[in-house]
Amino acid sequence: MHIVVTGGAGFIGANFVHHVVREHPGTQVTVLDALTYAGDRRSLDPVADKITFVTGDVADAATVDPLVAAADAVVHFAAESHNDNSLAQPWPFVQTNVVGTYTLLEAVRKHGRRLHHVSTDEVYGDLELDDPAKFTPETAYNPSSPYSSTKAASDMLVRAWVRSFGVAATISNCSNNYGPYQHVEKFIPRQVTNVIDGVRPKLYGTGANVRDWIHVDDHNAAVWQVLTRGQVGQTYLIGADGEVDNKTVVETLLELMGQPSDAYDLVSDRPGHDLRYAIDATRLRDELGWTPKYTSFRDGLAATVDWYRANEAWWRPQKNATEAKYATLGR
Ligand code: NAD
Ligand code: TYD
Repeated sequence: MHIVVTGGAGFIGANFVHHVVREHPGTQVTVLDALTYAGDRRSLDPVADKITFVTGDVADAATVDPLVAAADAVVHFAAESHNDNSLAQPWPFVQTNVVGTYTLLEAVRKHGRRLHHVSTDEVYGDLELDDPAKFTPETAYNPSSPYSSTKAASDMLVRAWVRSFGVAATISNCSNNYGPYQHVEKFIPRQVTNVIDGVRPKLYGTGANVRDWIHVDDHNAAVWQVLTRGQVGQTYLIGADGEVDNKTVVETLLELMGQPSDAYDLVSDRPGHDLRYAIDATRLRDELGWTPKYTSFRDGLAATVDWYRANEAWWRPQKNATEAKYATLGR
């Protein structure tokens, strides 16, 4: 099988390429990535001689069309992915997440290719902190931010292209990922690298918001299962029952890094900040037999801390600019 991986120089996409090269070595991989501030070719250095890399925009039909024509399937990770950025500057989110997905859909329609669209649980909005409910494939879409609303729009386009044009697509909506190669703007890498730099972690609001954490390798194993064995037209929710509030995440990190567990600061809250996400992954488990390998969040976090300690050369170049951006937001 020959796959095009869009966004393969980003956090999850790069880990997916590593996963495919390692676990499914007969697969031919072409990465298409625009190398925005979030993309880093060095994340693919360990597999560089086993893949083809194309620098280009997923919203540019002239780039996308021949790549899709030459492949069997597309796995679509490319997106603008950070909520805080989407609040400061929404336009790139509309362009990449909506127009980019539209452009890909038109190419897979024209060439009759398989598409797997990688999306987020944030399309469902949020849950109350004290509500036992979780998101299911039947939950109504109710996105809160420019990021989640443009991802929701992209999911809707995929559904429409399946129904109206018979495009062979699947969608997965995953909860918050952690692991190696995640940009230092995101919650866990930001706090780990802050502690390495002797800076106190920063919790938005009261730190009570809950995220449903999954290790990136468990997410990517599920994406592969859906790509190869999922039902066309179907939506799969991906999550590993990893609900933890932000304050507990920071306390655990501080403890793992040898600091007092209260050595953090509360900072101003994110506007529209979603309270809680939680995934019911029953379909994925029952239909495709997927189970997560990382069952201890604490162990997964410890391994992630070790990775950031060992790979300062990878994250250091982004750190100052990222913190300068946060400083303008007062966070
Ligand atoms: P990321 O920001 O780390 O990486 C995005 C990648 O896409 C970068 O390499 C970037 O250069 C590339 N890109 C951006 N615009 C592009 C364009 N116009 N054309 C081509 N490439 C472009 O994001 P991530 O965290 O790896 O997320 C990947 C996907 O997974 C996204 O679709 C996101 O919505 C989804 N997702 C992320 C999470 C999470 O916790 N990070 C959870 C669920 C779903
Ligand atoms: P983030 O990694 O931005 O992911 P998302 O917004 O997609 O959930 O943030 C995860 C959680 O951590 C979210 O509730 C916001 C919070 N957060 C902080 O408390 N401090 C920070 O410095 C950052 C970046 C996020």
